[in-house]
Amino acid sequence: MWRRWILAGLLMTVTLVGAQGARLGLPAEIADYFTWERANPQKDLEESAHPLVKDIYIDELAAQSALEASFPYGEGSTLIKERMNPETLQVTTLYAMRKVAGFDPDNGDWQYAVFEREDAGDFGGGWMSAENAGMCVGCHVKAKDTDYTFLSYLGE
Ligand code: HEC
Repeated sequence: MWRRWILAGLLMTVTLVGAQGARLGLPAEIADYFTWERANPQKDLEESAHPLVKDIYIDELAAQSALEASFPYGEGSTLIKERMNPETLQVTTLYAMRKVAGFDPDNGDWQYAVFEREDAGDFGGGWMSAENAGMCVGCHVKAKDTDYTFLSYLGE
C-alpha cells in the first residue's frame, strides 16, 4: 500500500515540476528556451545608434539545421530571439518562430510569435495566425535561401 503512496507522491512531484514549466506565462513548449543552444557568441547583433542587447536561442532540432546549414528545418524546430533592456538587462521581448507542417506552405511553414513582458511580470502575447505574421514574413523572406532564418550572428 505504502508503495502506492510513494508512487502518487512521485507523480505529484512530476506534475508540479511540469506546471512550473509554464513559467512567466510562457507556453510550455518554449518555457525553458534559455536552456537551449545559444547561437550568438556576441550580444550586439546589429550596427545601430542604439545598440540592442539580444541573444538567439535555438532548440536541439533547429540547431541540427542551423549549425550544419542543412535546410529545410525539421518539423517543430524553434528559434527564439530574446531582447533585453540595455540598461536593466531585463528580458523584455521574445520573438519566436517554429516549423509547423502545413501551417503556411507559401512561406516555409513557419509560425511566428511575439511575447512581451511588462516590468518583471509575466509575458503576454502568443503564436500568431499566418495572416497576422505579414510583417515578420515580409522581412524573413529575405533569408529564404536559409529557410527564412537569417543566422547572421552564428560564429560572429
Ligand atoms: C526589418 C526586418 C525584420 C522583421 C520585420 C522581423 N525580423 Fe526577425 N530577424 C531579422 C534579422 C536581421 C534577424 C537576425 C538577427 C538580428 O540581427 O537581430 C532576425 C532574427 C530573428 C529570429 C532568429 C532566427 C533568425 O532568423 O536568424 C527570430 C526567431 C525572429 N527574427 C523572429 C521574428 C518575428 C516573430 C518577427 C515578427 C514579429 C520578426 N522576426 C520580424 C529581421 C527582421
